[in-house]
Amino acid sequence: MEDTFSKIVSLCKRRGFVFPSSEIYGGFSSCYDFGPLGVEMKNNIKKLWWNEMTKKHDSIVGLDASILMSPLVWQASGHLTAGFADELVECKSCKKRFKLDDIKNGKCPECKGEIGAPRKFNLMMKTFIGPVEDEASTTYLRAETCQGIYMNFENVMRVMRLKLPFGIAQIGKAFRNEVTPRDFIFRMREFEQMEMQWFCNPKEADKYFEYFKEERLKWYADLGFSKKKLRTREVPADERAHYARKQIDIEYEFPFGFREIEGVHNRGDWDLSNHSKYSRHEMKYEGYYPYIIETSVGVERLLFALLSQAYTEVKGGRTETTESTKEQEIVLNLHKLVSPVKVAVFPLLKNKEELTKMAEETYRLVKPNFVSYYDETGSIGRRYRRADEIGVPYALTIDFDSLKNKDVTVRSRDTMKQERVPLSNIIEYLNKDLYNV
Ligand code: GAP
Repeated sequence: MEDTFSKIVSLCKRRGFVFPSSEIYGGFSSCYDFGPLGVEMKNNIKKLWWNEMTKKHDSIVGLDASILMSPLVWQASGHLTAGFADELVECKSCKKRFKLDDIKNGKCPECKGEIGAPRKFNLMMKTFIGPVEDEASTTYLRAETCQGIYMNFENVMRVMRLKLPFGIAQIGKAFRNEVTPRDFIFRMREFEQMEMQWFCNPKEADKYFEYFKEERLKWYADLGFSKKKLRTREVPADERAHYARKQIDIEYEFPFGFREIEGVHNRGDWDLSNHSKYSRHEMKYEGYYPYIIETSVGVERLLFALLSQAYTEVKGGRTETTESTKEQEIVLNLHKLVSPVKVAVFPLLKNKEELTKMAEETYRLVKPNFVSYYDETGSIGRRYRRADEIGVPYALTIDFDSLKNKDVTVRSRDTMKQERVPLSNIIEYLNKDLYNV
């Protein structure tokens, strides 16, 4: 399983999904950059989530709040206090921090120095606003995007003329000074969250909690996650986030075991009542504080789960007709709408001008509609493999019959079946297959 992990990491780098940040300086602090394929895939994930929330459901509208907010927000939310801190020990000589469990004989595991008493280390990332670096100018990069939603709960309700229950969806960056970032893009210091906050009457909170949990599980099933690799875990009180009355983690079986990909939380009146108290701005609705049901998932963590789910090795390859038969083949069986590239266009032969000319025309035709690339190097078998390795669902090949019939062969990644489609119909064909339109 660990082996699969390193193979996915290597594929991500080799094919341009994910690069370590600041690589020429040796990388930086669990930060990662998303390459040409990574950014397409992230955009696809975000679009699917956004459509699911705002188009499929009634009464869920969008928001894009700022990353920087008044530090009082974080005071009220509980993130600056014990609620959002890891308990760690620090080595008195090298100053490195460790979980208490990792310490043997009271010595630092790295330099054998003396270990200090356990302390809580806050995960908020501090920064300064304006030219003077003092207490008054200190603020924080947001640790969860939903606080911006709470700040705008009343604005949104008013301008959209909403009544409870309703929801606000948001996608954006969040930052955490994670003490033990690890497992590639699973736990990072800078990441993106997709969060939906559902405001409702406390009496209906349990009902909506169940409803959104089921909705989220359906969404994962639609994305192609196998039932066996997905599970839910009700988080016991002593492990729950400080704001949660009830918490269910949706977990996926990564190559390193089952881990959380999404949290569904009943936050009760924690946020609106605390913000009312700290700001002295009352946010009650019809005499009560609405309860909040939250669904929260990280874009990169989901991307990693999708890659893990899709990564398939076929010993000896799937093709029986080409010279590359004996090699191992990698196929990313990604959901077609998640795949970063939708179409690859190949002339059967590189040195036949009629073929390359028509292939280029085909590429020009599909490119404005679907993320596509043109490839004329190597045998056709190799080109299919390069496409399969990044999950391209459709490969269009132009052969000698194409010249006569003005058509292309569409080869499906999943079935490897080939179908001849008139060039004049290709956009319609792909739209129908991808979006059913
Ligand atoms: N507003 C609720 C909240 O932030 P959370 O369980 O702390 O809840 C929600 O985070 C999701 O955000 C997680 O399930 C995970 O997908 C993602 N996430 C959290 N911390 C992360 C990190 N350090 N790196 C990548 N993703 C992270």
